[in-house]
Amino acid sequence: MATGSYPATRFRRTKRFDAIRRLVRENTLSVDDLIWPVFIRDGEDDETPIPSMPGVSRLTVDRVVKAAREAADLGIPAICLFPYIDTSLKTELCEEAWNPDNLSNRATRAIKDAVPEIAVMTDVALDPYNINGHDGIVRDGVIVNDESVEALVKMAIAQAAAGSDILGPSDMMDGRIGQMRAALEAAGHRDTCILSYSAKYASAFYGPFRDAVGASGLLKGDKKTYQMDPGNTDEALRLVERDLREGADMVMVKPGMPYLDVCRRVAERFDAPLFAYQVSGEYAMISGAAQNGWIDGERAMMESLIAFKRAGCDGILTYFAKDAARLLNG
Ligand code: PBG
Repeated sequence: MATGSYPATRFRRTKRFDAIRRLVRENTLSVDDLIWPVFIRDGEDDETPIPSMPGVSRLTVDRVVKAAREAADLGIPAICLFPYIDTSLKTELCEEAWNPDNLSNRATRAIKDAVPEIAVMTDVALDPYNINGHDGIVRDGVIVNDESVEALVKMAIAQAAAGSDILGPSDMMDGRIGQMRAALEAAGHRDTCILSYSAKYASAFYGPFRDAVGASGLLKGDKKTYQMDPGNTDEALRLVERDLREGADMVMVKPGMPYLDVCRRVAERFDAPLFAYQVSGEYAMISGAAQNGWIDGERAMMESLIAFKRAGCDGILTYFAKDAARLLNG
């Protein structure tokens, strides 16, 4: 398939005006590609702006229901809930994580009740409930794997019972997908999807998120004994393969933009639905620079999102979901 030489071939012909550019475009972004992560808090008819994420707030349950209605009306297929838990409810063993009436489960029920057509995704990890800020249970300074998995399974079942459509295990413990899948089947939750955070890196780009869920001040040490080393990509393929074998329906690479090469490798190797998480730090960089007038925020947002499609992702978790949907809907 040879490309002719000049002047038989002039690449500028297909760039001449918008209609022709659209006609030859290889990748497109659609509202159907978007999952919108939101932060929830206790209280009524109120919200708290998150300083490190300009334009993003923690919403009370009634407000998140309204937000879900707006998202569904924009055509966004899924909303992903992250709870901000009061410090008084955080413990060493994270019991609040599987309380059937915890904030996340109450919000799930309220959204499924009022806006049944939107898919609700929930986060399966202990960090919002952990007095240590870690995703697993800590014993003598060690994040213990198997005991954490037992807790995560209880948490997953409580979320499925509350009506969560997609469980998102973001904890990176070993064996969690298989145990969760077995427990879901046993409890009769046969149709609950698992979107595994399979290739999740130990990243500085999660900083603003930890502020948003109130885990920044509490986190002791780092997450390098369970999240991936930024130097690795072969390991990402092994993790994805393992999670698919254990019963994940969809897989994720996270963060997004610094790991587009990982997205590409996973997309080429596996046929399963693949998502990237454009994380809080990526959002903060783009929206912070835009606020300062250093870049055109709308254009940078859309350019950053199409990059994920080009890299082979089927969809993107992004705090820009609503803004992008409004632009896509014209
Ligand atoms: C933790 C979790 C994190 C994010 C999603 N789930 C942070 C972490 O691993 O410390 C990050 C999301 C973001 O930065 O937007 N279970």
